[in-house]
Amino acid sequence: MTIHNNEAKRVHIFDTTLRDGEQAPGASLHPEQKIVIAKQLAMLGVDVIEPGFPISSPGDFMAVQRISQEVHGVEICGFARSVKEDIDSAIRATEAAERRRLHMFLSSSNIHLDFQLRKSREQVIQIARSMVAYAKQFVERIEFSPMDATRTGDEFLFEMIEAVIEEGATIINIPDTVGYALPEEYGAMFTRVMDHVRGGKTVEYSAHCHNDLGLAVANSLAAIRAGVTQVEVTVNGVGERAGNCSLEELVMAIETRKEALGVETGIHTEHIYAVSQKVSRAMSFPIAFNKPIVGRNAFQHEAGIHQDGLLKNRNTYEIMDPDKLGVPRSMIILGKHSGRHAIKHRVSQFGVELSSEQMESLYVQFKELADRQKVVQDHQLLELIGHTVNEVLE
Ligand code: KIV
Ligand code: ZN
Repeated sequence: MTIHNNEAKRVHIFDTTLRDGEQAPGASLHPEQKIVIAKQLAMLGVDVIEPGFPISSPGDFMAVQRISQEVHGVEICGFARSVKEDIDSAIRATEAAERRRLHMFLSSSNIHLDFQLRKSREQVIQIARSMVAYAKQFVERIEFSPMDATRTGDEFLFEMIEAVIEEGATIINIPDTVGYALPEEYGAMFTRVMDHVRGGKTVEYSAHCHNDLGLAVANSLAAIRAGVTQVEVTVNGVGERAGNCSLEELVMAIETRKEALGVETGIHTEHIYAVSQKVSRAMSFPIAFNKPIVGRNAFQHEAGIHQDGLLKNRNTYEIMDPDKLGVPRSMIILGKHSGRHAIKHRVSQFGVELSSEQMESLYVQFKELADRQKVVQDHQLLELIGHTVNEVLE
């Protein structure tokens, strides 16, 4: 873990938008789109990119290969089941990367062993050992994920992690595959693994959270507090079902509450909005209006009291500066909740000066219109200003 000035510890951002994120229903990408997005992710400053699942299709293999060749300054991660063919494919696809790692996974919970793998615990440990040892011949950095770890008992989880560390795994990712964990449980799980697993202090740790209960960011923050040095995220939180931990939410929580959390990332936040828009369009995956950080309403204010406060000092109702995220300027939406101060401000932005009598008449007409529709657009306000000026002149 890198220690910087003011003692903030560096948390590495592992972006899996192009692998786990792409598993969101209907969000698949063409290889060319993946290459463009990977370049943007590198510019954004993520530390690791997982660009796909090479064995899953020729297109994905090609995308991972081209990204390994063309995207610089970032570690590229090949993804594989604990199966020789997958490992071979991921190793080949990432051959040209400046820095690379292999990410292997194998289920650890009883429900997965019984119904999905249909294997005994002994067999699973044996597979994990032999496949990590096999992969270690080709690549130094091996990340291992016990899938469905948060629904796995400690005893078996520790045994599996111990086995893969012995065979050479260097990064242990503990996924909350089904988004089941609570923050305090998830953090405590890392602490127990770090303390009790043989060799547990020799590896790096990573969090990978799904958002089924809306806890992915909270769980990732709990893991950071427990000492993980990597978090796996996706842009806009896209991913299976309710998605993965959202990159922009996690990064801005760390950025905004740096002192409380004592960590930092290498993300260049000014590119967040552009990357979010790019991913949303490429995946044809709309962003909810109220999505934190990148949603349409994230920096818009309608209530009169809020608008009044903002016009006096933006910190009254904003904890982040939208300019620093590349979000188009914070907007004041004019609607039925807007007060005189906000309307006056918008009128002055048009370069129009109204007497107090005109302003009062405009305010009355504005409220009547706002009651009939959700938002009063600028051109409608301009029309009202026209009426007001004429009316008072008549
Ligand atoms: O959610 C999950 O368990 C995964 C792993 C394979 C890391 O995506
Ligand atoms: Zn996942």
